Formats: sequence, structure tokens, C-alpha cells
Amino acid sequence: MCGIIAHAGADDAVGTLIDGLERLEYRGYDSAGIAVQNGSGIAVHKRAGDVSEVREEIQTAASSGDVGIGHTRWSTHGPPTDENAHPHTSDTDNVAVVHNGIIENHAELREFLADEGYEFTSDTDTEVIPHLVEHFRKEESETIVAFRRAVEELEGSYAIAALVRDEGRVYAARAGSPLVLGLDDDQYYLASDIPAFIEHTRDVVYLEDGDVVVLEPNEAQIFDENGLSVERSGECVDWNPEDVGKGAFDHYMLKEIHNQSSSLSKTIRGRVDPDNGRVALEELDAEILDGVENVHLVACGTSYHAALFGARMLTDAGVRARVFRASEYAKMAGPTTEGTLVIPVTQSGETADTLSALRTATERGATTVTVTNVVGSTAAREADESVFIRAGPEIGVAATKTFTSQVVTLILLSQKIAAELPDATPREDLPELLAALEQVPTHIDQVVETSRAEDLASRLLEYDAYFFIGRGMSRPVALEGALKFKEITYEHAEGFASGQLKHGPLALVTSQTPVFGLFTGDEAEKTITNAKEAQTRGAEIIGIGPENGPGAAESDAYLRVPDTHPVCQNLLANVQLQLVSYHTAKQLDRSIDKPRNLAKSVTVQ
Ligand code: F6R
Repeated sequence: MCGIIAHAGADDAVGTLIDGLERLEYRGYDSAGIAVQNGSGIAVHKRAGDVSEVREEIQTAASSGDVGIGHTRWSTHGPPTDENAHPHTSDTDNVAVVHNGIIENHAELREFLADEGYEFTSDTDTEVIPHLVEHFRKEESETIVAFRRAVEELEGSYAIAALVRDEGRVYAARAGSPLVLGLDDDQYYLASDIPAFIEHTRDVVYLEDGDVVVLEPNEAQIFDENGLSVERSGECVDWNPEDVGKGAFDHYMLKEIHNQSSSLSKTIRGRVDPDNGRVALEELDAEILDGVENVHLVACGTSYHAALFGARMLTDAGVRARVFRASEYAKMAGPTTEGTLVIPVTQSGETADTLSALRTATERGATTVTVTNVVGSTAAREADESVFIRAGPEIGVAATKTFTSQVVTLILLSQKIAAELPDATPREDLPELLAALEQVPTHIDQVVETSRAEDLASRLLEYDAYFFIGRGMSRPVALEGALKFKEITYEHAEGFASGQLKHGPLALVTSQTPVFGLFTGDEAEKTITNAKEAQTRGAEIIGIGPENGPGAAESDAYLRVPDTHPVCQNLLANVQLQLVSYHTAKQLDRSIDKPRNLAKSVTVQ
């Protein structure tokens, strides 16, 4: 959570920082700010609210500068107020700092600094940092040494960028929170994530934990944790600036729903060998699966739902697979051994709970293969191997296209694992499934073009609560449908295994609680029966199923998906539910791309 950016270069920093922060708002959007060197000191502009508020303030102040830092916040310590917005400054206003992460020992540092006479003006953990830099500057002749000493005092996770009065450079450090360096001819950028500067450059260097960076308009120097100057190899990312814009769409979420056909095509490309009816997925060296006896999938939120789908594919193929909420893994996993393959599923690759589960697995000697969207993310760097979902950048806070790409990646990975493990066997119908998977992008386009979700949404606004039910492989889709609905409509929504309804939740069902029935996949018939149990108690049933599926006649309203392989029907039903959530939220005038209280990348436990 929280996004930081820094810029040093020939161009004016202010516009670059503000544009970059707008691209980072998915990381937090309850307050924002920038600081720039402007010739007579450090000018700070910061406010509660989103980045557009700061943009307005800056236009009025006509601020400029060629070196600067910026921040968009998701509050952890202290409410979203002007005072708690970053950048934070030292008493003298000589040092300004932006920070993403948590300083765990901030209370002790605050006490020490207060005893030394430093005054605090915010509730944040971050404010200790500018005071510490200021403190050590009194003892050191070189700012870099003072900055490093300040950083050494910090416990917890951080990505930090700092300005020091009258120095035309940015000091930055990384430990446990993402920080990427962007390199252009005479422009340098630092940011929590690549979309912040993708319109300027695709050449990046992923910094390592312990790195300290000094950014100047004509050079960027990296020092490792021992203070030695190091070269880090760079790479050119294959994301495009258009990927991070809204294009002609009202919202990123709608754009990302529509783009699923192209993002999924990239996920699948080269990974299916249709002639031989097998999964290719050559980037995963099969040797890593030697000795694997069982599989644990660990994930949070939407990624957890994708992991449920993956686990079902694995167990169907005879692999012992379990899914854990990443936050529970350390205590719940039971025996994790050298024979366990742990698969952290994480779009961002930075979710603190998932990283913690990954580290638990590594400590216990397990083999780890992460399924992630972000090359260079912490999960990708810490896992033994990575399988990338190749969905491209996702800016809407509510995950859409990345869920689809995660599920398909896990379908492919499950069959690769099943082909390698001695006691497992890929599905008998794998050739048919792979052929159907290759059709899914086209089918997604059909769903998006013909969906009646918008009409349906207009009838859905007045209800008390919304239930989503599914069975087998449609259960993760029911859970995901409910999560998406509650995230962006703020209405009460719950997903259940359809067979579970009669064991308690049915008590909540009334004429005011529509039930979305996932009538897709192999177990649709039983879900139809469960839905009818709700219908006889007054609930409106909204079925989602194939064109001529048996659920159509039993439903009060029906959203159709192309009649394809049962596994793939679930993916298409999910697209219908994404559209239902989107249009309902739109009609309720919700903040669709930036739902209240949420952030896309949750880097605190
Ligand atoms: C929901 C959503 C979150 C994330 C969760 C895990 O729309 O986006 O529930 O799925 O925070 O994030 P990653 O996948 O980045 O680990």
C-alpha cells in the first residue's frame, strides 16, 4: 500500500510526479503530496483526498523544480488528514521524506527523538525518518552517510525517498517494500511500481533489499547494504503506456474486463501444445517437481479464489493439494516438508501475508513456485521459480483480468504437475480442455458484447443482501462474484458452496435477497436444486449458465455464457458477474476504480 515516486532530470519534476501518482493511486488514495527542490528550499504540497486535490493546489501555487518526491497514501498510522499526508519534513524543513511500508520501531525512535528536542506534527510512523536524517546530518559531513545511518535505525519494511534542502538529488532506500528504478536518457525515476513512469521509459532496474540509491538529474548510483557502489542489471519491460491508461472507457475496471480476451491470449500463448494435447509451459523446469509429494497453495482475496480453482484441478488429477489463506499459513499448514510444493498465488507479488507464507515455506524446506503477474516482484525474486500470468498491468483496485489469467495459468500448471508426479495423471479430457481454453478469449468477447448485466443491474439496487452459490469448480467463482460485488457496490454480498446453503445461510434468504446461481460446470444440476430451495422461500434466482443449460428455465433472470467445456464455462460466468458488479456499482455511483478503504497491493500484515 501507498505509492511513492521520485524524479530527477532535465524536465520539470512536478508534472511527472503528479501524473505518476495518479498511476499509483491503486496503491492508496486517501491523501497525497509532493515535495520539490525549487531553488529557495523544499516546497511541499500535500492534502487529504486524492491526487487531483494536490494537482489543483500545485496549479494555484505554480510550483516547479527538477528534483522531487511524491506519495499517495493508504493510512496505517493516523487517519487521512493533511497533517498525516506525506511528504513529512524535519523541524527545520531541511529534509522531506515519503515512505511506503511500516516502521515497526517508530515508537522507540519517536521517544528518542522527542527527548532530543524534535517536534512531531503527525501521527505517522514515517515522521521519525526526516528527524533521524536531520539528527545524523548534525554528526556527519556527508548526507549519504547520515541517510544511511538513519536507515540503519529503521526496523520493519520500507521504501523511502528523501530530499535534502539545497541538494539537487534524491536519496532512497529499499527494505521489504517494492522500489523500481526507471532509466531514460537524461531522466531518472524511482517508484513503487512501473506504471508510475511507463509513459517515460520501459528500461527498469529492480532494486534489492538493502540498496540505497542516489538519484541526480544526470546519474543514478546504487549502493548495496555494505555501502559499496554496485551495478544492477536492468531489463526492458513489455508493458505499454496504453496499458496504464483508461482509453475510451469510463473506468479502468471496465477496460480491464473488456481487455480480458487479449490479456488471456498472452497468458495462453506458447503454453499449449494442441497437436499433442499437452501443456507446454516450458519455462517451468520439470526437475523442480522431483520429489514433490503434495501441494499447498497460499493466497489472499481474489488470488485465493483462483487458488481454490487450481487446487480443485490438482485434486481431480490425483495430486494431494490444499489451499490456505496466506495470513493463516504459518500456524495452520501442519506438516510442510521438503516434499511439499508451495505455490504462492499473488497478482502483485508484494502482498505481505503471501510473502510471509512464502518465507514460512522456504524456512521449512519446501519447494516454492509463485504464480504472479509482476516480473521483478518480491514473490518472483524469493520463490524458487515463477510462472507469470502475463496479464499486463491492472490498475482498477478490484481484480478482474488478473483473476482470469491466474485461473488459466493454474489450470495449465496443475496439468503440468500431474504429468510429472508419479501418482498423478492429467485429466483424460485434457486435449478437449486445451482446445476449449484456446477459445476462451473469443468467448469472453462474446460475453462482453452480448451481456445483459447492465439491464439486470438496474433492477438490483433495492435489495438487502446478495448471495452467490456454486459447487465444485463454480464455488470459487461464486466466492469471487460476491467479493467483487461487495468491494465495489458496498452492498452486503456473500458467496457459499451451494450445498452449504441449507445448513444455515438459508435462514437469511427472503424476497429481498437475490441469489446468483452458478449453473456452470459439472455440478450445475445440484446447484440448480439448491437455488430452487432459495426460490421457494421467496428469493429471486439469477442463473448464470450455458446458452441452453437446464438452469435457464428455472431462473427468474438468466445470464448466458457460450456452451463450451464445463471448466471454461466457469471462467465465462465470472466475466458476467464482473459486469453485474460493475454496472450495479456504476448505477449506485460508487467509486469503482478506487473503492473506499481498499488498496490494491496490501503490503502490511
Ligand atoms: C480483490 C483484490 C484483492 C487481492 C488481494 C491479494 O479484488 O484485488 O482481494 O486479490 O489483496 O492481492 P495479490 O493477488 O496482489 O496478492
